Amino acid sequence: MSTQRIVFWLRLATLVALCLPAVDLAWRWYTGDLDPRPVTLATHITGDWAVAFLLISLALTPARAIFDWTPLIHVRRRVGVAAALYATAHLLIYVLDQKWNLIVVATEIAKRFYLTIGFVALLALVALAITSTNGWQKRLKRNWKRLHWLVYPSVALALVHFFIQSKVKIGEAAFAAGLFAWLMLWRLLPARLRSGFAGLFLLAAGATVITAIFEASWYGLVNKIDPIRVLAANLDPELVPRPAQKVLAVSLLVIVLVALQRGLAAAKRLWTQRYIRRTIPTS
Ligand code: HEM
Repeated sequence: MSTQRIVFWLRLATLVALCLPAVDLAWRWYTGDLDPRPVTLATHITGDWAVAFLLISLALTPARAIFDWTPLIHVRRRVGVAAALYATAHLLIYVLDQKWNLIVVATEIAKRFYLTIGFVALLALVALAITSTNGWQKRLKRNWKRLHWLVYPSVALALVHFFIQSKVKIGEAAFAAGLFAWLMLWRLLPARLRSGFAGLFLLAAGATVITAIFEASWYGLVNKIDPIRVLAANLDPELVPRPAQKVLAVSLLVIVLVALQRGLAAAKRLWTQRYIRRTIPTS
């Protein structure tokens, strides 16, 4: 298949995948599957998908480098825009929850720290989505890159918002923060280490340790729980899976996939060489 065709199908599949959570949510809402608190559940679901799509959009650059598959870069923009749209829907559902009383919404956003940072993150994400077009890229020239660097602090703010609203159950937020740590560490790695196995093992270890430290520090600082006990929970088989273990599992899965891809490519090369040697007579 030509690259153009691959990009076409990849874009189409991505568009369908990005719409599926919204369609599923609308259907569940319509059929009463979200009862008795559809608005609360919808707020949580849209928030979760906004974070998931943000992380996926940040993962596409490393994925292209690690799996050496350029078409992935052609869907990065639409995944980022989808994240901003889900975050906007998240805010609108919150506004619906407040009976469309914009004064109450504005007061709550100003009063509650977790809503204030969520709002700042949302403003930045919407600005990035609007300026993500080729036209804006040309208009802003070098400043476009500088502006789009804002995605990193925006994701960090969205994650702090996620942590604070999770109260005592920060498992999912800590897992998301661990994946974000992996993505940030990858960007900090020297270029020669970014797609090799040594770099990937370093990333797995680094992101796992950072997740465990995040979790223990959060419980220690916010809930006054002994951080050593939280760290020790990572070794207790009855408390599986901990956020750090999930980050380790995802990191190891990446390594297994890379090994498989490179193994298959090497086997194909070997097979082709043998086939050529057997079929083309040497003089
Ligand atoms: C003005 C902006 C925002 C408002 C008013 C807002 C509001 C809320 C509210 C009310 C909750 C539920 C809190 C609870 O049940 O105690 C929540 C949770 C959440 N929000 Fe936001 N949010 C905003 C921006 C964002 C942004 C920009 C993101 C991500 C990109 C985000 C991601 C999340 C996530 C992941 C959760 C937790 C979902 C879960 O627990 O499953 N929010 N937000």
